[in-house]
Amino acid sequence: MRTTEPGLQNIAKRRLSTAGRRPARALAASILAAVSLSCLNPRAHAQPLNVLHWWTSDSERQAADRLVQQLASQGVDWHDDAIPGGGGGAAIKVLTGRVLAGEAPDVAQVIGRTLTDWADLGLVRPLDDVAQRGHWRQAMFPVVLQTVSRGGRIMAAPLGVHRINTLLYNHHVWEQLRLAPPHTWHDIEAAAKVMRAHQVTPLAWSDEPWQIATVFETVLLSEGGPALYAQLASTQGWPAWQDARVAVALKRLRWLRDLDDEATSEQPWMASARRLQSGAAGMLIMGDWARGELEAWGEQAGLDFDCVPIPQTAGMHLYSIDTLAMLVGHDTHRPEQERMAEILAQPATQMAYNQAKGSVPVRMDIDPAQLDACARDSWQTLARPGSALLPSIAHRMAAVESVREAMGEVLHRFIKERAMTPQQAQAQLVAIVRGAAR
Ligand code: BGC
Repeated sequence: MRTTEPGLQNIAKRRLSTAGRRPARALAASILAAVSLSCLNPRAHAQPLNVLHWWTSDSERQAADRLVQQLASQGVDWHDDAIPGGGGGAAIKVLTGRVLAGEAPDVAQVIGRTLTDWADLGLVRPLDDVAQRGHWRQAMFPVVLQTVSRGGRIMAAPLGVHRINTLLYNHHVWEQLRLAPPHTWHDIEAAAKVMRAHQVTPLAWSDEPWQIATVFETVLLSEGGPALYAQLASTQGWPAWQDARVAVALKRLRWLRDLDDEATSEQPWMASARRLQSGAAGMLIMGDWARGELEAWGEQAGLDFDCVPIPQTAGMHLYSIDTLAMLVGHDTHRPEQERMAEILAQPATQMAYNQAKGSVPVRMDIDPAQLDACARDSWQTLARPGSALLPSIAHRMAAVESVREAMGEVLHRFIKERAMTPQQAQAQLVAIVRGAAR
């Protein structure tokens, strides 16, 4: 690992379709049987509401605590069930196990395709009455409503919208080295040369599969453009994965990996954010939860760090929408679950939570002046008619869990095994997506 030179150390303080219908029905039957058993459980009448989620970093904890406070002030108690692990891979596994064992929590961070799949299995409580009373259809972004809807019904309480195509850079490093803002791949290449000459690692990288997949989809959008990306993310879009631009994106992915001088690292995303904060690394490609984290550590957007869209994605929003689903099983908890959903959507809760989380409110009726520059650009891109809004594959907005995981494994291998060509990796991605589309 490179060390920072003293001067810099100082300044740097600062539906893809589910495969096979029969297995899905069998799974649904066993889950529903387990859920009915859980209704006989005497604990079913206990308060408060158990909430299973994966928010465990400093900013995630702060954001969750703000929800806890807003809820408590209106008489709803949150019993925390946090499962660590960035991107929620571990949390979803634990949650599925608990549901199958008849020990479903009352509330869970179930998002995107996972939400609609679980809605199909009858595992989540529709919230149409709450949404109607709270005028969600008038107040929330259409893309948010579409993400939480299944068969015309609202299936979860939306919390915030994250922007995945975000590049964060250390403002102090940029100032000290007089670098041009990283708007193009060429800018990034030029800045990387200068940073290397001053012993700053250009890009903080982690080889965790979900983090690689997160970077990869931003590059897919950049190199492929919104029309190709929309096809790649669509249920039957597997032929698009054969497009030559996918191989170009894979090459770019490797190029980015090589902007980090550490030989191997599967560090949590917060460790990469630390490297960015300290100035040991100049840039980080990560969903804007990393911005929330920097702010939780006292850093200020525009002063200590800046953010720009990934090159060639300005005006586009590669989104991941966080939602809490109310799980079925404990009918006696239904009034509290509905009350919780109602409070989560209130403007004050939305602003308090999102300002800590790094995401932006799901509502169109907030004052964007209350957001910092990065968040304002994200919110305004969502609000602008005609913006390209693209669902995150890596964060479950487009792909089912099994496909998401399989793709992450291929990308991980591609990054680790240099003998594997972009064309070989592409062929494997095509096979996964085609298999799931049958
Ligand atoms: C979630 C964020 C979370 C991030 C890192 C994403 O999938 O949407 O809320 O902060 O993972 O764990």
